[in-house]
Parts: sequence; structure tokens; C-alpha cells
Amino acid sequence: MRLLILGAGGFIGSNLVTYLDASDRADYEIVGVDISDEKLPGDLRNFRFLHKDFLDPEVLAEVPRADVVVDLVAYANPSVYVESPLETFELNFLQNLDIVKLCVEHGKKIIQYSTCEVYGRPSGPTYKEDESELIVGPVSKQRWIYSCGKQLLERVIHAYGLEDRLDYSIIRPFNFIGPRFDYLVPAGNIGGPRVFAQFMSALLTGGPMYLVNGGDQRRSFTHIDDASAAFETILLDSRANKHVFNVGNPANDVSIREMALLMQEVYAELTGTEPQTTLIDIDGEKFYGAGYEDHTRVPADISKLGALGWTPVRGMKETLRSVMGWYLDNKDEMLATIGD
Ligand code: UGA
Repeated sequence: MRLLILGAGGFIGSNLVTYLDASDRADYEIVGVDISDEKLPGDLRNFRFLHKDFLDPEVLAEVPRADVVVDLVAYANPSVYVESPLETFELNFLQNLDIVKLCVEHGKKIIQYSTCEVYGRPSGPTYKEDESELIVGPVSKQRWIYSCGKQLLERVIHAYGLEDRLDYSIIRPFNFIGPRFDYLVPAGNIGGPRVFAQFMSALLTGGPMYLVNGGDQRRSFTHIDDASAAFETILLDSRANKHVFNVGNPANDVSIREMALLMQEVYAELTGTEPQTTLIDIDGEKFYGAGYEDHTRVPADISKLGALGWTPVRGMKETLRSVMGWYLDNKDEMLATIGD
């Protein structure tokens, strides 16, 4: 099966191609596209890399040759969409729409990565793909241009599907974490990468862990290998066609404060030394800039993908042990990336 993976060099993409390369569930021939290859291992077997922007003509020429196009290209960091909402809309909606249209033109299936952020503020105890209200906040808060841009892309894809002009699956990721997540930052850094990378940086550098707005807001974290397995289930099961899927781990629901304490505990367990980091409360707009709004996220309902045979298997402690263990094993290499 020929896959064209746009954004293959990012955190999700690099872990996904590594996972698929080792899988024996199908024979994959993968063309990966990205403007960076730093996260990609050099020893993949059935993988060709195009070091290009995803709208480069050479990349677009690959669409007719693919069986499935996988679109991972997007800005997903709150610090980016708070600071650059227009750029976020242009990339996440307008430029991604060009890829969708090309898939329509060439009759190719697309697997589009969206975001759990389309749900917005919680409307019930869990988020259900085909039932939950999508509740967004005011225009003056930039989280919602990100959420609306992704939501509109999903709605356009669905509309093409309704007219039988496009086969698709949509994935809504819930806080995946794993090796080479975002990027590390110096001690005391404000803004920047998402929370796991911030806290891991603090543990490795001895800087503070900042709890934005007190840290009572909740997230559920998903091991990237569970997330890659979810992708493969969706890819290989024809029943996934024209459906939206949550990919998350509801069992790993914690407050951000609990996450910080858990990471400190696992750090002590893995290194045999107490972490040299303190927890500091900080205001959201001070941390990210004006226009930051946060919300608690309720866990994903994952029964829809469960019906196709997927279930996440890595609990919270196991996820942290495995991912933090990877960072500790690669500590020198990872610390050297700070400031790159
Ligand atoms: C972001 C994106 O908005 C989603 O689209 C994306 O799907 C999601 O990441 C993800 O990784 O799946 P968010 O969960 O808000 O959403 O991202 P984080 O930056 O990881 O923040 C999680 C929580 O931790 C937020 O409440 C944030 O304020 C808090 N935080 C972050 C801290 O308390 N301290 C930090 O150092 C960083």
C-alpha cells in the first residue's frame, strides 16, 4: 500500500512512519514529506523522504501515485496559535484544503488529522464524535480560530464525502506524548512547546514547572504507540471510511498539577535522585500572551474506534515511564537541542 504522509517529519509523523515500517499487518511503501527530517530515524526500510513544503509541485505530483494521503500538516501549539492566529488559519485550513481538493480531483482517500480542540468547551462527561456539541469561545481568544479552522476543514471533508466525491477518515488526537515530542526549552522558559515538553525540560534542566492558571484543568494523555496503532486500525479497516474518530486514552485523565507531580515521581523512580524543580503558578496570559484562553478537557469516548478493535493499552504511569525513560536515555542528545 502506497502512503503519502504529509508532515512525516513531525512528532506524530516520525513516530508513525517508524511504527508502520516495523509493522507486519501490511506491506507499506511510504513517501514522507516535511520541511524537517531531524526527528526521523535514518534506517527505515520502505521509506522515501521528500525534504519539501507540502504544497511543492514535486509533492503534489505524488498524490495521484498514492493509495492513501495522510495529512498531518498543522500548527498545534497554543503558543503558536495565540501569537500567529492568521498563519494558523492559513496553514491549518486554507493550505490543507488544497490537499483535500487534490484528493477529490484524483479520487484518493485522505486520512486527515484534526484535533480534539474541535469540541471546544466540554458539553458532557465525554466527547463523542457524532453527538457532542462543538462549543467555542469568543473571537477575542485565539484558541477558537484554531478550533474553528480545524472544524471547518472537517465539515468540508464531510461534505465532499456526502456527495460521494471523497473517501476519508478524520482523526481527533487527544494529547499524544512520546519520544521527540515538540522541543525542549531552557530553564525558566515561558510559552513555547506543549506541557509534556515543558515539564520534561524543567526536570532535565532544573528549572521551574509552571502551572498555568493553577493547573486544575484536566487532560488525558495518550502514548504515541497506542496512537500509531489507532491509525493503522483506521487505515486498514474499510468500515472506517467516512468517519471521524477520537484517538485518546480516557483512563489517563489527570489535572495538569497531578501530571507535574506524577512526572516528578517517575523522574525520582527512574533516576534514583529527587527532581530539582519547583511548581510555580502562573497566569495564562503572562505565560502565552494576550488572548490565551484555557479550558478543562473531558476524556474522549473511544467506543467508536473500539468497535473496530482498537483500544489503548498504556496507562498513565507506564506511558510516563516509557516516554520519560526515552528522554533520560537520550538526555545529552536532547539537552544539546536546546537553543537550536
Ligand atoms: C494543544 C492543542 O490546542 C490541541 O490541538 C492539541 O490536540 C493538543 O495540544 C494535543 O497535544 O493533543 P493543550 O492540551 O491546551 O492543546 O496543549 P498543552 O500546551 O499541552 O497544554 C495542556 C495544559 O497544560 C493547558 O491547560 C496549559 O495551560 C497547561 N500548561 C502548559 C501548563 O500548566 N504549564 C506549561 O508549562 C504548559
